[in-house]
Amino acid sequence: MPSSSTLTKAVILVGGHGVRLQPLSYYMPKPMMPLLNRPFLEHIIAYLAKFKVTDITLALSYLPELIRSHLGDGSNLGVQLHYTVEDSPLGTAGAVKNANRYLDSTFAVLNGDIFTDLNIADMLAFHQHKKAKVTIALTWVDNPCAFGVVETDSEDRVRRFTEKPNTNKVTTHWINAGIYILEPEILRHIPVSSYYMFERGLFPLLLKLNEPVYGYPFRGYWLDMGTPEKYLCLNCDLLLAKMSSPLTPGLGQNSVCCEKDATVHPSAKIMGPAVIGSRCQIDQRARIEGPVIIGEDCYVGEDTSIEKAMLWQGISIGAGASLKGCIIGSNIRIEEGKQVTNRIVTLDHTGLPGESCLRADEAG
Ligand code: GTP
Repeated sequence: MPSSSTLTKAVILVGGHGVRLQPLSYYMPKPMMPLLNRPFLEHIIAYLAKFKVTDITLALSYLPELIRSHLGDGSNLGVQLHYTVEDSPLGTAGAVKNANRYLDSTFAVLNGDIFTDLNIADMLAFHQHKKAKVTIALTWVDNPCAFGVVETDSEDRVRRFTEKPNTNKVTTHWINAGIYILEPEILRHIPVSSYYMFERGLFPLLLKLNEPVYGYPFRGYWLDMGTPEKYLCLNCDLLLAKMSSPLTPGLGQNSVCCEKDATVHPSAKIMGPAVIGSRCQIDQRARIEGPVIIGEDCYVGEDTSIEKAMLWQGISIGAGASLKGCIIGSNIRIEEGKQVTNRIVTLDHTGLPGESCLRADEAG
């Protein structure tokens, strides 16, 4: 019988190398990538805090010091943060087992690359009503073939998991959304210090043991920011107010949010939605057409044109350059007059600036 009536604890899985986000993820762990100029992870933490889930463990395995030194004890965000660091990746379930010293009551687990407006309080009520030991949030997708699908019965009890089904074997469009509520007693089924996954290890085992595992279907916003296209799409969705974050209240559909210490020449034209970071300088006749996000310390030269783009920090755009449908990584210099369309420009694995394609049709 579930013991707790409240949910205050969560683990955020901050593991992988973000392979699908390369080249952006070579020097920046996926959860630290900026979302409206704040690290993605800060938005997830603020989302949890909104539901009074304030005792949060970050299960880290890739570039952990970068994350830990930025977030500290979490007090700036109104939460208490704990950290676990894996010497080598332990998998999604193994990483949670590794955090078990912090998990003595009902807790949530979130993949560290999901953005959603799922109502956790409602999911908890469902979990308790069903007397579940594990509840898996389920989201509906048009094409489930790239995901783990979850079959449930008429009582929402999970009956089967299928990883990445073939088109002709699709039995449901409800997929695992990467958000779970678990009772701590379940941790005993996860081996210590071993690589172990929820999807392929723990969940199928629990079904065999006839443990009560339930699926909680929801129809709200859900996006896995695991590719550059999805990452750009998420930033644009927030800018276009299709979705909101507790960290960016009041962002209207066409608003221009410009930090006070940014300098914009009076002849520059900015059409929202746009966010312009601290200490930016926008020169004469620059034309910015949202959705556009410009990070701190960027220089945008005269007669430039920027449309649907994301600039990280410390970037310099030479006079007359034109950017459209782009993500530009930190400290990149775009030459005068250069045209960059549907591209990622960032440091590559050799540490030198490089360009790769951004599939515009998938960027929302
Ligand atoms: P990436 O390698 O981060 O791109 O993982 P993925 O997008 O292929 O996602 P996957 O379904 O493998 O993992 C879901 C979430 O769990 C992501 O946030 C991962 O970063 C995280 N994760 C995956 N494996 C591990 C691990 O071994 N340890 C920890 N701490 N987290 C992990």
